[in-house]
Amino acid sequence: MRISVFGCGYLGAVHAAAMAELGHQVVGIDVDPLKIDSLAKGQAPFFEPGLAELLERGIRSGALTFSTDPEAARGAAVHFIAVGTPQQADGAADLRFVHAALDAVLAIAQPGDVVVGKSTVPVGTAHALRSAVEQAGARLAWNPEFLREGFAVRDSLEPDRIVYGVAEGDTTSAAVLDRVYAELLIAGSPRMVTDLATAELVKVAANAFLATKISFINAMAEIAEVVGADVTQLADAIGHDARIGRRFLNAGIGFGGGCLPKDIRGFVARAEELGVGPALDFLRDVDAVNLRRRDRVVALTREALGGTLRGRRIAVLGLAFKPDSDDVRDSPALDVARRLAAEGARVVATDPAAVETARPVAPALDYRAGVIEAVTAADAVLVLTEWQQYRELDPVALAALVGGRIVIDGRLCLDAQRWQAAGWQYLSPGRITDRSRALLGV
Ligand code: UDX
Repeated sequence: MRISVFGCGYLGAVHAAAMAELGHQVVGIDVDPLKIDSLAKGQAPFFEPGLAELLERGIRSGALTFSTDPEAARGAAVHFIAVGTPQQADGAADLRFVHAALDAVLAIAQPGDVVVGKSTVPVGTAHALRSAVEQAGARLAWNPEFLREGFAVRDSLEPDRIVYGVAEGDTTSAAVLDRVYAELLIAGSPRMVTDLATAELVKVAANAFLATKISFINAMAEIAEVVGADVTQLADAIGHDARIGRRFLNAGIGFGGGCLPKDIRGFVARAEELGVGPALDFLRDVDAVNLRRRDRVVALTREALGGTLRGRRIAVLGLAFKPDSDDVRDSPALDVARRLAAEGARVVATDPAAVETARPVAPALDYRAGVIEAVTAADAVLVLTEWQQYRELDPVALAALVGGRIVIDGRLCLDAQRWQAAGWQYLSPGRITDRSRALLGV
């Protein structure tokens, strides 16, 4: 099939490459010439394992092209809209790019084409866009994406589920999308056809649930810390209950990234507009618990260093919002690093992938290429993103390099006993600490 993808950011670039991999003829369109140049050369403009190989294969076979000119999409039967929906100051989603992309699509769409929204939008958006699409003789469907950064290629080619929202009385769009995803459906991916509003809700509801799960365990971490319990063991124990499940129960400095924080705020704003604000009041608490994690790690560091950070040298290992990513959007790690610097610490930071993305956003940090350079002479070492290489660090070797043997495990990813055995004071939000010992008198 001939397919166009409008918006070649994170979502669109991966989607375009995946569609070409499924055997379609795909053109990716974006207004940013730098992005298009880079993609056309087969270079992913962001860090995503496996994407470069997919791009290269698609481009080499001629199945995948990129252009800044929407005219290049003329003749495609399916047009995906995959542009960003950034957060506005009031928390609501900004739909400017969606409207601009839809205008560009409708300028070249032929009667009978299917326009498919993939962007994460406030529920009700598709309904509002529908008449413009139908006036052009085309159909509108909504097909949310559930890509996780770092696994985006796998999530595109082996999705947990495929959801299409279609308008009432539209019997064609689902059949067209079945042809688009034929290979995945044959391989067994579950597929659901819903109305437009349900499809829009699936995405934000899933992200709201995941955010709630993380904040739940982080709320337990707040309790655990005071009573001297271990939140990781707690998560393991409750996670054995299949109804709860262990995934997304990792306590630490909380969630960040381009989706979860923005999506829950956008969802709250939308519920208010719809007059059902109280239904999502709990998401404000989810957000608040999450942000308190950052405060807690800063406070823990301050406490560990005797009450002030001024003039202290602090090594920060990890800047990305999660491992296997160079993304620092709303990254808890980067936020903590900046706050430490704002309190007068000299923050020496490193990350296996995110130094160059962090540098322009947080120029006050002192960046280093690797762990050895970052920890040398540090008064405290903070692990803020659980990269595999950080989990495997040798506490004995590092002990010889630092100024003070204090390690703060912001992601509860280190083997506490190993670090303690090597002479480190191990601190972590949600595990037994000196504070909890003092409070309990043990
Ligand atoms: C998320 C959703 O998982 C995905 O389905 C959706 O399409 C986009 O948003 P992503 O933003 O890539 O994906 O990251 P995810 O793996 O969900 O992690 C989000 C944040 O939660 C990260 O900061 C991560 O460190 C944090 N997290 C995750 C925890 O703090 N604890 C956990 O147990 C899991």
